[in-house]
Amino acid sequence: MTEQVLRTIDAKKEQSVVGLREFLSIPSVSTKPEHAPDLRGCARWLADHLQMAGLKADLRETGGHPIVLAKNEHRPGRTTVLLYGHYDVQPPEPLDKWITGPFEPTIRDGAIYARGAADDKGQVWAHAEAIAAWQQHGGLPVNLTMLIEGEEEIGSEHLERFVRENRDELRADIAVISDTNQFARGVPAITYGLRGLVYCEVFITAADHDTHSGLYGGAIPNPANILCELLATLHEPDGRVNLPGFYDEVLPLSDGERDAWRKLPFDEPGWLRNLKLEQTAGEAGYSTLERRWGRPTCDINGLTSGYQGHGAKTIIPSTASAKVSMRLVPNQDPLKIVTTFERTLRERCDKTVKIEFASHGLAGSVLVPREGRAMTLAAEALQQGFGAPPTLIREGGSIPVVGLIKTTLGIDTLLIGFGLPDDRVHSPNEKFDLDALYKGTRTAAVLYEKLAGLK
Ligand code: BES
Ligand code: MN
Ligand code: MN
Repeated sequence: MTEQVLRTIDAKKEQSVVGLREFLSIPSVSTKPEHAPDLRGCARWLADHLQMAGLKADLRETGGHPIVLAKNEHRPGRTTVLLYGHYDVQPPEPLDKWITGPFEPTIRDGAIYARGAADDKGQVWAHAEAIAAWQQHGGLPVNLTMLIEGEEEIGSEHLERFVRENRDELRADIAVISDTNQFARGVPAITYGLRGLVYCEVFITAADHDTHSGLYGGAIPNPANILCELLATLHEPDGRVNLPGFYDEVLPLSDGERDAWRKLPFDEPGWLRNLKLEQTAGEAGYSTLERRWGRPTCDINGLTSGYQGHGAKTIIPSTASAKVSMRLVPNQDPLKIVTTFERTLRERCDKTVKIEFASHGLAGSVLVPREGRAMTLAAEALQQGFGAPPTLIREGGSIPVVGLIKTTLGIDTLLIGFGLPDDRVHSPNEKFDLDALYKGTRTAAVLYEKLAGLK
């Protein structure tokens, strides 16, 4: 049966891109309130498409952007697979850095360029196409529940409640997510670890309005100066994060893991060239892969104060703010880290100004078992789909739902991503290779067949 499904996928190779283009042209930017109708429209579009492919698909309300929930007809005794993905995307800015519009999907050099191409619409699409092909040949060999949400890029705020309240409906034997990367072109991967994330914002306020820097400068507190001093305390000279207890719970990398990562074919010079950089930077004593996959960080993501327009304006700003994210590793506790961050900055802050905090989104780190039947089956599927054996890797990004699936549904997740490290996710000119779409679709098709044998 799989042979026929794969032949259908081959025959639809060109046509598959047509649907993906439509999906990518919807600006489903979850963080911007003005795009709420686009998110709903995107969810509707996807649900209609899945319905046409032969699934029963609905929009489910969450209080935020809707979830698309789709199922085939479940039969007793079969393996049940929970497939998760997200249809929301990151903001496309800065717009002037895009060669073609972020929501005008364009094919160049064997890749489709658009916001969300790899993260995550293209990867969701690979599964949708594999599922559609199975439905044309008597239906999927597994019970499938597909949950595609619209708030992943903003921390999956309403998802926890939805999963808890619909625990029974979402029951499955295994979860599958394609929202990560291959290790390199031609080297597919299964991801067994993800970093967690906390995202904090800090606001400093002094005078109630911007003032003339000649008339007031030197005599009143400057929030921009004070914020910079504060942020400068966040790291030690050796690159370690300077917050009390930050490393207390950090699970050290094992020698075995460090050895295995050293043996991976990581092309560090090529990786740097892609960024037009000559040097890496980070915590002393760790390699680049170790720093990215296995060590926690603290990074300023955005910094705002004072005059930002052309030329000069002589003012003492009345406010300054920074967005700071921390990537976490097993077994750091996100809540504890946020609390420490806020308490410590408050203590360190000059007492002449007001300091306030907001916290946006939070995700636990993830480690899934590297052995077991599901892993073996996933490796076989990737081998068939990509024609190469997968490597086992960790990634530095975060996917909040993985922890939730483990705690509420009690199951592990297979992280089988089809993206490439140079896809520029979250950056201008995001792309997804058409080869990855094709091989990803084949992998997904084979995976459903393999997972049928899980039970
Ligand atoms: N798909 C990414 C995460 C990712 C990308 C993991 C590549 C591994 C390889 C996901 O959409 C993402 O960007 N997550 C956010 C989570 C946050 C908003 C809670 C992240 O990591 O910043
Ligand atoms: Mn994603
Ligand atoms: Mn993302």
